[in-house]
Amino acid sequence: MRDNSAAWIDSPYADLTVRDAPMPAPGPGQLLVEVRALAVNPLDAIIQSNGAVMYGWLRYPVVLGEDVAGVVVEIGADVQNFSVGDRVVAYAIGLEKGRDAVSESGFQAYVAVDAGLAAALPDAIAFEDAAVLPLALSTAAAGLFESDQLALDHSHLGDADPRDEVVVVWGGATAVGGNAIQLARAAGYRVITTASVKNHDRMKRLGAEAAFDYHDPKAVERIIRAVNGSVVAGILAVAVGSADPCLRIARATGATRIAMASPPVSFYEQPRRRGLSLRRIRLFLSLGTRTALLQLRSRTRGIRPSFIWGSAIATSPVGPAVWDAYLPEALASGRHRPYPEAHVAGEGLPAVQDAIDTLRRGVSARKLVITLAR
Ligand SMILES: NC(=O)c1ccc[n+]([C@@H]2O[C@H](COP(=O)([O-])OP(=O)(O)OC[C@H]3O[C@@H](n4cnc5c(N)ncnc54)[C@H](OP(=O)(O)O)[C@@H]3O)[C@@H](O)[C@H]2O)c1
Repeated sequence: MRDNSAAWIDSPYADLTVRDAPMPAPGPGQLLVEVRALAVNPLDAIIQSNGAVMYGWLRYPVVLGEDVAGVVVEIGADVQNFSVGDRVVAYAIGLEKGRDAVSESGFQAYVAVDAGLAAALPDAIAFEDAAVLPLALSTAAAGLFESDQLALDHSHLGDADPRDEVVVVWGGATAVGGNAIQLARAAGYRVITTASVKNHDRMKRLGAEAAFDYHDPKAVERIIRAVNGSVVAGILAVAVGSADPCLRIARATGATRIAMASPPVSFYEQPRRRGLSLRRIRLFLSLGTRTALLQLRSRTRGIRPSFIWGSAIATSPVGPAVWDAYLPEALASGRHRPYPEAHVAGEGLPAVQDAIDTLRRGVSARKLVITLAR
């Protein structure tokens, strides 16, 4: 007889509280995973800091968390390619509209995940290293490959002929960016990226041909020079504030699509409390103005900026192309590396809140991971 427990968020803005949780029952096409490692994402911090303003459909108490790695302990109907006992990494999408933000979210000992958003883990990859992948990889894939984003060709992912087209990834050291570099390379594209200087070698090891420091006021000009007249197939703007420089690159290189992972303002620094503080009003005014300006400055030049929703791949052909056809083999062969490096920030569900608070203060090329002992 198994018992489940979860790190609950009982109401908007509240700290996480660990207590018993119902044992999830895997539905058709789902796996029940005994979680051995989970990672925290900016999304968890943002939802906790912004209450009902974000993900207004959540009915509290709920469980946050998207990234898990663990062992399959039960299999729902209509699942073919997994067995009980398999080691897997999986994207838990309980927070998405229409899903169950209790049984399908990651900050718990057992979670129900879609088999289509899970991949077998080779023995050589530890659970804590794999847990860095799910949301970041899925968001990168959505931005690069969804038809309403950069719509890059992913028909031979992992086996594609090299093509002389460039993808610019602004924010390559982010979890999303590092996975985007690897996926774009796996699809055959050349990649130019930005990161702090200390991370440039790391970016090149992931497959970027050039990395530029985003702190450098001349970074945009340097990137345009590095593109050197090649076709820019698309631009992925990952970090907060990256849409403006990406728009300048698009204008100079003729790129027509920019996929943005972040809004133009940061939702991180919001104080965790209810109501419309002056700070929150300013943030929303700034969000509205900057978004409208960006759309105006882009559309008048024939450039289409779009906002990425990482979970879009759950219901599109990109999901199976990445999670099923590409990832298991790419992890086993070492062609796709778990990025960023896992930093184990604690053990047990009570450590999750501290990890979210640490993430709010900022990380560099690291993902904060919590291990769960058995
Ligand atoms: N839309 C979606 O579905 C979705 C999903 C996931 C994440 N996101 C968003 O995507 C962003 C990245 O998330 P993440 O988890 O990948 O982040 P992360 O790994 O926590 O990002 C940390 C990295 O950000 C880099 N960075 C900070 N400011 C930058 C700037 N101005 N330009 C370029 N790089 C910068 C830093 O690089 P250096 O260390 O090199 O300085 C640092 O390594 C967040 O805003 C997050 O909310 C959106």
